[in-house]
Amino acid sequence: MKAKVGDDVFGEDPTVNELQKQMAENLGKEDALFVPSGTMANQLGIGSLTQPGDELLCHSSYHVFQWEGGGLARLWGVTTRTIEKEEGFLDVEDLQNKVRPLDSHYAKTSIISLENTLNRMGGRVYPLDKIKKIAFWARNNGLKMHLDGARLFNASIASDIPLKEWGKYFDTISVCFSKGLGAPLGSILVGSKVEIEKAHRLRKVMGGGMRQAGVAAAAALYAINNNVERLKIDHANARILANSIMEIDGLDLEFSKIETNIVWIKVDPKKAKAPELIKSLKDKGILVTGGPDNLIRAVTHLDVDENDIQKVSSTLLDLMKP
Ligand SMILES: Cc1ncc(COP(=O)(O)O)c(C=O)c1O
Repeated sequence: MKAKVGDDVFGEDPTVNELQKQMAENLGKEDALFVPSGTMANQLGIGSLTQPGDELLCHSSYHVFQWEGGGLARLWGVTTRTIEKEEGFLDVEDLQNKVRPLDSHYAKTSIISLENTLNRMGGRVYPLDKIKKIAFWARNNGLKMHLDGARLFNASIASDIPLKEWGKYFDTISVCFSKGLGAPLGSILVGSKVEIEKAHRLRKVMGGGMRQAGVAAAAALYAINNNVERLKIDHANARILANSIMEIDGLDLEFSKIETNIVWIKVDPKKAKAPELIKSLKDKGILVTGGPDNLIRAVTHLDVDENDIQKVSSTLLDLMKP
């Protein structure tokens, strides 16, 4: 509330400028742009790297394709070619044969978008060696790279790989402050001066230019300066939760895949229905979401402590009793 503010549409908000500078440095990029949401950061990144008629390659579960209202087609005239793969981590080999020939009949494959950590595929950290290989091949083939790094801080803490290392392999990167980091809102897009200048213009077009945005940027600055190391606690809590859930008859999960703060729980359809469980949990003050195939998604964050985890597992145990 005490943040120094100015008019960010004119680039005159000192707190926003400080956040942008710090995040550009953290990721080893020239510039950064503060935006209201992760969706806007992704859309502006991809929008600034593409032309109408271009095609983007990504996994079929990624947020940019699945959960952004068809924004790539709607806003930028970009088609998406998705790749199905069980684990959500794409390799160069998965992408190579999806690049269309340079022929006027086809859309122009121009960009690859990756996600780290994976959301729908269980909070897993994208292996850095896979990213390095994709980036090397993409650069040699004139393809741009965007990273949906909504939870890149979680990836960095879980892998002990600094943000700057992840940043090297992408042209633009989005990062959210409002997820595990606990800020009430806000995300950032980082990239080169040229890309961020384009994104700045597009942000204005989308109505995302905010005036005294410093109050929101101050919360984001607080989050990155105070709430990053503690993400380890969320990751440990996710494993504690997962451990206790594995003991419950009718619930199952893949423990080895719990690398950060997302726990996907498989509900045995013979024992219970996930939507009904989600509703019963909500009635008891426990908020989780669902997915297809009778799945429940639980996320740990700074407002959830070990006692809460106990409450979640004992409530689930009760609800699953025959
Ligand atoms: C991987 C990923 N990217 C982007 C977003 C979008 O963030 P926002 O809800 O702030 O638009 C989300 C939101 O859950 C996400 O999980």
